[in-house]
Amino acid sequence: MLVCLIVSDLVPRVPGLCYGADYNPEQWPEQIWPEDAKLMRQAGVNLATVGVFAWAMLEPAPGRYEFGWLDRVLDTLHAAGVAVDLATATAAPPPWFSHAHPGAMPVDGDGRRLTYGSRQTFCPSSPAYREAALALAERLADRYADHPALAMWHVHNEYGCHNARCYCDTTAAAFRDWLADRYGGELAALNEAWGTAFWSQRYTAWEQVQPPRATTTIPNPGQVLDFHRFSSDALLRLFRAERDLLHARTPGVPVTTNMMNGGFTALDYWRWAGELDLLSNDHYIVADAPVEPGAQIAYAGDLTRSLAGGAPWLLLEHSTSAVNWQPRNLAKAPGELIRHSLAHVARGSEGALFFQWRASGAGAEKWHSAMLPHAGTGTKIWRDVTALGGHLRRLAEIAGSTVRAEVALLLDYPSGWAAEGTSQPSVDMTTFEEIRRWHAVLWRDGITTDLAHPGQDLAGYRLVLAPALYLLDDTAAANLSAYVAGGGTLVVGPYSGVVDEHDRVRLGGYPGALRDLLGIVVEELFPLPAGAAVRLDDGSTGRVWTEHARAVNATVVASYVDGPVAGRPAVTRRTAGSGTAWYLGTRLPDADLGRLLSTAGATPLLPAAPAQLEAVHRAHPDGRGYLFLINHGRDAATVTGAGTDLLTGTEHDGQVPVPGGGVVVLRVAAGDG
Ligand code: GLA
Repeated sequence: MLVCLIVSDLVPRVPGLCYGADYNPEQWPEQIWPEDAKLMRQAGVNLATVGVFAWAMLEPAPGRYEFGWLDRVLDTLHAAGVAVDLATATAAPPPWFSHAHPGAMPVDGDGRRLTYGSRQTFCPSSPAYREAALALAERLADRYADHPALAMWHVHNEYGCHNARCYCDTTAAAFRDWLADRYGGELAALNEAWGTAFWSQRYTAWEQVQPPRATTTIPNPGQVLDFHRFSSDALLRLFRAERDLLHARTPGVPVTTNMMNGGFTALDYWRWAGELDLLSNDHYIVADAPVEPGAQIAYAGDLTRSLAGGAPWLLLEHSTSAVNWQPRNLAKAPGELIRHSLAHVARGSEGALFFQWRASGAGAEKWHSAMLPHAGTGTKIWRDVTALGGHLRRLAEIAGSTVRAEVALLLDYPSGWAAEGTSQPSVDMTTFEEIRRWHAVLWRDGITTDLAHPGQDLAGYRLVLAPALYLLDDTAAANLSAYVAGGGTLVVGPYSGVVDEHDRVRLGGYPGALRDLLGIVVEELFPLPAGAAVRLDDGSTGRVWTEHARAVNATVVASYVDGPVAGRPAVTRRTAGSGTAWYLGTRLPDADLGRLLSTAGATPLLPAAPAQLEAVHRAHPDGRGYLFLINHGRDAATVTGAGTDLLTGTEHDGQVPVPGGGVVVLRVAAGDG
């Protein structure tokens, strides 16, 4: 029997895995709080995120703070053994703030000033907001620095969820400062980068430069791209300011802010990741997304883990059942919340938290599910919630273990922003959705995948995939060449490497920065009409896009049989150094893509795993390992394996049955799985 140290370093004050939710007691009479604490104990909750939207209650008038109620909340939770992820409450300025500072309200690209009555109603560059937010965070830090319930800090909430980009005059001035810094104070450098010789856009004084506000027709792409970068940095500056203040006042208490790794792409999270003490994520299933729920969860988990550099991370929010913000908010079937939570844990989360503890009786989210539903404890949700609490307790020994992937998908936010801008060859050439599609193809084939930045060290990966990497700077291009020369296999999707970091075309033929590495030259782009398909001579189909390409120094693997570039290469492969570089000039449908990636070297964790059976391996540095078997199908599935199921205590030796919709977590011998 192994003796395990079940203390996660991630949240030092919470032993084992974390379990809980956003807790918003300010929405309820105080008499209910002891019942909340009692039920939290019953459910196995050990961590609650408190105060996320409590600014108006904490500071009812400018500079007048009321912490008495929060003291009592924290004391009550602490007495019940629930640690607190204390929010700085800066995500929703109260009406008194907005009323006093109309100039701090965000302005959209059409020049419309938005008003309050919702949340995140502020301009990220507003000095008034910054000052008020920091004052509140400072008071909270001073007040609760020594409170025994304080386990971690939750700065703001989902930065940029509603106000990622503001176009007001304050923003314009901040944007100019940011640009002056980026271009070394040289307006000529900005003019060159943005290509302002085109359409008579040359700037002759800094004050002429503004955010890309609504204009007559296509805006300058370089300006738009830099504005997206600036906007991500403007929010990051706010985060840093709160974080620094918390670090100074409460050293040793980890600071996080909840990311939205899933569909949210407005912030460059690679620039954020290193600034957080621990990476945390919020994830919600989108009912009408192009990929299935299991694949959505896996992508979110893999991305968060990758942003954490492979370290454990924490799922800070997901839903026990329906959300309230989609056109049709689908409820979860019995057991589904357990499966979803454990699917995040399988990919490195040190637990599972929900939005929120008690379902609201009023307000914009009254139809959002919670751990404690409107109907109370005699419910399907409550039964699953308490069962999950038991599961997470039984999984405590996995805390601190990590997931390793041999395959990486390259993701660069500015590249996606530029590629999905206006006036591109085809609106169908999405970036972010295409990366998620490739990830889903790999997920269905049982291949654990990281996301990676094109400029990072890639040597640890056997296979690196660039589904859509339109923009590539010289350093990242050199990095990819070095990766292949060193023995790696790279697969590049169409319309990659074609522009530099300013969205300026790399001349001399596409794919620009990758031309030599791939050994091909593309002379003209031939996007396909909506819904059209072309045939390739290896039996696959091409969609969305084709190119008039010439293999200069590469083997042609497949050519087009028909379509606008019939006879031209569609798939090529080149040996470079001790590695291999593949190029796809078209978008292959899922099945064809899966076959090609398998040929290129993607191998599943469990060969011949049944369909819809997800298998992920977590391991401690000393080799103790855990095999998560997650059955997303309705029917029971069986895999070959051996070990103890931590959830039930059952010993398996040979055949491991996984019930339909169920999960098995096997403690496996070192190196197994
Ligand atoms: C986000 C927010 C929460 C809540 C949920 C609803 O994750 O952080 O406050 O609005 O969405 O799904």
